[in-house]
Order: sequence, then C-alpha cells, then structure tokens
Amino acid sequence: MGEVQEALTSRRTVYRYKGDEVPVHILESAFEAASNAPCHKNTHPWKFYVMGDEARESLIPEVEKLAREKTRDGEDEDVGVSKAIGKIISPPLLICVTSVRSPGDSFREEEDYAATACAIHNLVLSLWDNGVGSQWTTGAITRSDVAYAAIGASSDEERIVGFIKAGYPEKIPSITKKTVEEIRKYLP
Ligand SMILES: Cc1cc2nc3c(=O)[nH]c(=O)nc-3n(C[C@H](O)[C@H](O)[C@H](O)COP(=O)(O)O)c2cc1C
Repeated sequence: MGEVQEALTSRRTVYRYKGDEVPVHILESAFEAASNAPCHKNTHPWKFYVMGDEARESLIPEVEKLAREKTRDGEDEDVGVSKAIGKIISPPLLICVTSVRSPGDSFREEEDYAATACAIHNLVLSLWDNGVGSQWTTGAITRSDVAYAAIGASSDEERIVGFIKAGYPEKIPSITKKTVEEIRKYLP
C-alpha cells in the first residue's frame, strides 16, 4: 500500500488527546498542505485561525449558555457545562476554519465551501501523517456571534465551517465504513 493510501484509510476522527503540545513545524506543514488544496477559479476561500488561550476563553460564556440549554431532564447541568467547556479548553490545538462568503452567488459560495472542506482534509491528513489526530466539529458555538467575535471576522464575509480540535491521540477509535461495493457502481 502506498503511503498516501495508508494515511487515507487509517485516519480516524480522534476525540481524546494527550496533553503534549503539537510542534509548530508540524502545524505549519499542515497549513502548507491545506493551502495546496484544489479550489475553482483560484479563490483560496479558506482561513485558519489558531485559537490561543484568550480566544478560547472568550467562548466560555456562550459555551456555558449553550450547554445549559442542551441539558436534558435528569441530567446534571453543571456536569454538562464543565464537559462542554473542557471540549473547548483542553484540546492541545483548536483551529477555527472559515470559508469566504459570496453574497448573491450561491454557486460560487458552494464551490468555495467544497474547496474549504478539501483544505481541511489536507490539513487533517498532514497532521495524521505526523501522528497527530483531529476532530472536525460543527457544534452550535460555530454558528454563534461570539465565535465570529473571537476570531475577529464578519459573518457577512466569512462563514465558520467548523472548529478542528487536534493533538496526539490518547485513543484511536475503530469504525466500520461502507464497503467499496456499496458505494461505487461501474456503468456500462
Ligand atoms: C462536516 C463535518 C462535521 C462534523 N461535525 C462533528 C461534530 O460536530 N461532532 C463530532 O463529534 N464529530 C463531527 N464530525 C466528525 C464525524 O463524526 C466523523 O468524521 C465520523 O464519525 C466518521 O469518523 P471518521 O472521521 O473516523 O471516519 C464531523 C465531520 C464532518 C466531515
């Protein structure tokens, strides 16, 4: 198996990370991989915001509010809140990814979103190649004004497409995927 194929098939979303920091050179290579993703009309629609302590902490009140709203009957609200805050604060890396908006041109915006998804996956696979796991998340916080304020971006110009959490895996989950026979069809 080639190395790229091996990376593509072995990569899994990682939910739990060791505390070790990811070296900057590994992160910078991942951004270089992201920057080389395909995009139509050379729009390079993606931006990556690496969230430092201050940026993450600015999300806490909104994360807390959203967690309280989500608490179901019988669940301990404070436990849910501290879990939700932990998810933002504890990953060694938290990267907010945006894709440029094109008001009045929904096809361009859709193509740019597709390109940004390619860039995210280039980033994720480059990290994986260096032993770093990650998780793409699209929780409610990614759609909040607070998240746009935290990265200093206007929601009229950019769309937050997710937060990427990353770090050295504590555990790599196993998962069953569809077989090739289920997903492809050769037509006559
Ligand atoms: C667009 C997108 C959004 C996702 N959002 C979330 C999320 O909000 N929370 C989460 O736990 N996982 C999220 N994931 C990760 C998926 O749950 C994960 O990719 C899926 O379980 C398949 O596992 P795999 O990545 O190991 O193949 C997201 C993945 C994608 C592509």
